[in-house]
Amino acid sequence: MSDRYQGFVSSPIGKLLVKNLGLPSPTRLERYAAGEPLVQGTVVLGGAGRLSAQLPTLLDGLGIASTSTTAEGETYKGLVFDATGITDAAGLIALQEFFTPLLRRLDTCPRVVVLGTTPESVTGSERIAQRALEGFTRSLGKELGKGGTVQLVYVTEGADDAVASTLGFFLSPKSAYVSGQVVRIGAHQEKKAEPVADWTRPLEGKIALVTGASRGIGEQIARVLHRDGAKVVGVDVPQAASELQALMRELDGDFLTLDITAKDAPQRIAHHLSTEHGGVDIVVHNAGITRDKKLANMAEDRWSSVIGVNLTAPEKITRVLLDEKVVNDNGRIIGVASIAGIAGNVGQTNYAASKAGVIGFVDSLADDLGRGITINAVAPGFIITAMTAAVPFATREVGQRLNALSQGGLPVDVAEAIAWFASPGSTAVNGNVVRVCGQMMLGA
Ligand SMILES: NC(=O)c1ccc[n+]([C@@H]2O[C@H](COP(=O)([O-])OP(=O)(O)OC[C@H]3O[C@@H](n4cnc5c(N)ncnc54)[C@H](O)[C@@H]3O)[C@@H](O)[C@H]2O)c1
Repeated sequence: MSDRYQGFVSSPIGKLLVKNLGLPSPTRLERYAAGEPLVQGTVVLGGAGRLSAQLPTLLDGLGIASTSTTAEGETYKGLVFDATGITDAAGLIALQEFFTPLLRRLDTCPRVVVLGTTPESVTGSERIAQRALEGFTRSLGKELGKGGTVQLVYVTEGADDAVASTLGFFLSPKSAYVSGQVVRIGAHQEKKAEPVADWTRPLEGKIALVTGASRGIGEQIARVLHRDGAKVVGVDVPQAASELQALMRELDGDFLTLDITAKDAPQRIAHHLSTEHGGVDIVVHNAGITRDKKLANMAEDRWSSVIGVNLTAPEKITRVLLDEKVVNDNGRIIGVASIAGIAGNVGQTNYAASKAGVIGFVDSLADDLGRGITINAVAPGFIITAMTAAVPFATREVGQRLNALSQGGLPVDVAEAIAWFASPGSTAVNGNVVRVCGQMMLGA
C-alpha cells in the first residue's frame, strides 16, 4: 500500500510546490530491520534525577551508544532527559537549558525521551512540575520535524530498574510512528521485570495468540512476534483459512479457524492453547470490524456485530483464559483500540464505543491481574491497510496528513508497539493505552 502524496513531494516538481505553497513535506520514516542495531548513532543523556546514574549501563546493555558530553560539530540520533529530579516549576528551566542547544544537532528521525516521576505518586510542587512535562513533550513532538518523535515516560519509584524495554522501543526505529505519548511504568503493579537474555529475540520460547492474523495489522503482528522469537497461534474466520494457514506455515506457527464471536470460541481457544501449547504467554486481541453508519440510520445488526467482535469477544476470551489459568505467569494481554475510540468519528458510534470499551477493558483489569500478568492496548491512528485503502481518496489524503509526521503509519508500526508490550522486560508496563498515530491532531 503506497502513500502517493509522499511519492509526489519527493519528485522535483513536488519539491517545488511544497516550498512555494507551504505544503506538508513528510520525511521518509526509518523502520527497524532485523539484525540492525537498535540505534544508528549516539544518544545524549541529560538531566539529574534518580534514573541518571543507571542510564549509560542500561543503554549499553541494549547496544546503544550514549554520552553526557557533546562535541563541537557532532550530530546525535537521540536525547534522553532524566527529569525525575525536577521538584518545582522553577526547575523546569533545566529542560530549556538541555534541549535548546541540541535541537539543531539531531540526525534524521531523531528520538527524544523525557523520563519523569508518575505525578499521582507525588504531591505538592513536585506533582505540579512533573505534570508540566506533558505539555512540554507534546509540544516538542509537534516542533521536532525530520521524522522525529518525542515521548514522556513516567516511572513510579520502585520501578526504576524496569525501563530498559521501554527505552529500547522509544529510542529505536521500532517506534517510527509513535509520538507525543505519555507512558506510565510501575503505576499498577510493583513487579520485577523478567530478565531478557537476548534483546534481539526477547520472546524466545513464548506462545502468542493473535486474532485476525491472516492479513493487515494482524499479519504484521504475527510476523514481528515471530521475528522476536515467539511461536504464534493465529486465529481467523473460516473464510480466511487459506491465507491464515499459509502465513502460519511460513512462520512455523499454529492456527485455529473460528469466529471469535461464536459461543464456544473462548472454550475452543482455551482448550487448544492448553492441550497443544501448555498455555499462552501473549494474547493479542487484534480482530476487528467496522460497519459505519450515522446513528440515525444504524440498523441493529451493524451495532451488535461491531460490539460483538471488537469488545465482547476479547472480554469473554480473556475471562476464560484467565479463569482457567491458561495465561501463564508474566503473561501479556494486549488490546487493539483506535483513535476513533478516543476522539470519536462521524458514522462510527458503534465502532468508537467498541474501541473506547477496549480502553475500559485495560483500565478494569490492570490492577487485578496478578502473577506478573499485564494488560495494555495500542490505539492506531491512520494505518495504511486494505481497510483504509477503501476510504475515498480525498478523505484518505486529509486523514494521512493530520498528524505531526504528515503521513499514515504502516501495520508494522502497530506490531512493533505490541511487541514492546509483549516483552518479558515490560512487566512494569501495565495499564497503558499508547497511540500509534504519528501524534494525530484528533483527540490529542
Ligand atoms: N487500519 C487502521 O487504520 C486501523 C486503525 C485503528 C484501529 N484498527 C484496528 O486494528 C485491527 C486490525 O485492523 P486491520 O486494518 O488489519 O483490519 P483487516 O480487516 O485488514 O483485518 C481484520 C482481521 O480480523 C479478522 N476478523 C474479523 N472478524 C473476525 C471474527 N469474528 N473472528 C475472527 N477473526 C475475525 C478478519 O478476517 C481479518 O483477517 C482492528 O481491530 C481494527 O479495528 C485499524
